[in-house]
Amino acid sequence: MLTKEYIKDLKNNSNGTIRQLVKDNRNSGSLTYILENLGQLPKNFDGSFLPDLLDHKNSMVRLWTIKTIGKLGNEEYLPILKQTALNDNDTNVRREAVSSIGRLRSKKGQNILTEILQDNDPKIVCQAIRGLLVFKGDSKVDESLKPLLNHENEMVRTIIYKEYFAEQKDKNVQPHTESYDYLKNVVVNADTIETMKLLKDESIHLTFTSPPYYNARDYSIYPSYKAYLEFLADVFREVHRITKEGRFLIVNTSPIIIPRISRSHSSKRYPIPFDIHPYLMEMGWEFIDDIVWMKPEASVKNRIGGFQQHRKPLSYKPNSVTEYLMVYRKSTEKLLDWNIRQYNCQTVQDSKVLEGYETTNVWKIDPCFDKVHSAVFPVELCKRVIQYYSYKGDLVFDPFGGSGTMGKTAKSLGRYFFLTEKDEKYFDYMKSKKSNDMFEKIETKFLYLDEFKKKIK
Ligand SMILES: C[S@@+](CC[C@H](N)C(=O)[O-])C[C@H]1O[C@@H](n2cnc3c(N)ncnc32)[C@H](O)[C@@H]1O
Repeated sequence: MLTKEYIKDLKNNSNGTIRQLVKDNRNSGSLTYILENLGQLPKNFDGSFLPDLLDHKNSMVRLWTIKTIGKLGNEEYLPILKQTALNDNDTNVRREAVSSIGRLRSKKGQNILTEILQDNDPKIVCQAIRGLLVFKGDSKVDESLKPLLNHENEMVRTIIYKEYFAEQKDKNVQPHTESYDYLKNVVVNADTIETMKLLKDESIHLTFTSPPYYNARDYSIYPSYKAYLEFLADVFREVHRITKEGRFLIVNTSPIIIPRISRSHSSKRYPIPFDIHPYLMEMGWEFIDDIVWMKPEASVKNRIGGFQQHRKPLSYKPNSVTEYLMVYRKSTEKLLDWNIRQYNCQTVQDSKVLEGYETTNVWKIDPCFDKVHSAVFPVELCKRVIQYYSYKGDLVFDPFGGSGTMGKTAKSLGRYFFLTEKDEKYFDYMKSKKSNDMFEKIETKFLYLDEFKKKIK
């Protein structure tokens, strides 16, 4: 019977016995098992039986054969590795062959990898780049890699950009974990774009916001849907500028409906999250996740009533119980680990998310109703976003402050907040809450734009 120990013994004890074992076990399961369990190979291992296995019809057998050939670390196998890299019909086998060529770190291998850069499969090209980057600094290698900045595949472009063209960061920017005092716990009554224009680059750690709903509520009147989307794009472009490297933006929106003007017209539905997404990608936000906020059916407007009565196909209108939280990260070559490493151990420890966190991207949370503001965030929604996407002491921003739920929650979780709100009615509402519960125990500044301008000078 084939066992790991038996394979190990044959491999180490007498040369050529593995060849016999392979000859005696031709089915793909046994062959894969043997090859998979060969582990590290002894120096004198005779691998001459391996190339024949590359004709096996099972791709797992071929994959493990290539891995084993790679372990031999022998340049003599380069032609066969090249042939497999170019011609096998399974991408994983081809990729493994390219990886094995790379691991040889040889001049001949370098030339083959350079040829492979022309491959049609971007995964194969990326693997070849990886192998070649070992020789970064070698002028021939650099000359073959740099032009890939214009490659049609985005992954390839990103690797090359990071390796050769990424700007060195300005050493004078504020340390990553810090924020300016004049932004801490401040609410400004002004247009958000006008206010953001006053801020320095990389001032804030996190933005969570729910923008106005096109013309679905009285506080949002835009001449056209296009003008509305462009307004949001202008907002998020500024948010991008003032966001620290690699940090997050979470936008809460949902498709909205503008009711019909009469029975002879139909209502119109606008897919806001999907329409704003391309703008965000274009301006340098990287898409990370789509979280669905799900509300109880009883809490939303009933649209299914008519259909329930007549059941006529085409007029089906489900009750809309979801909104999106689209999660984006400011594009950077740095990994998330870099962001996390900027914080000291104590802050990391203090910010750890406790048991009971949400494990899926469907967040079931009841909506919240307010006597003054018609579209407030539930505190639970803000809590999750703040806890999952910021550290204690961070500055979190809501450009569309509304009733200030983000500010209140940020404060309760040991973060600072910065809010802008254009409508004086809501600004005053936040101010009025200051005296009862909202921003107590901390000095919150409610400023008109002129006052804010003086503070930041
Ligand atoms: C959907 S509500 C946000 C509600 C908020 N999330 C809360 O929990 O109360 C959008 C808010 O954006 C404000 N707003 C609209 N346009 C604005 C602008 N250009 N600058 C700042 N605030 C604006 C509106 O007055 C409204 O209060």
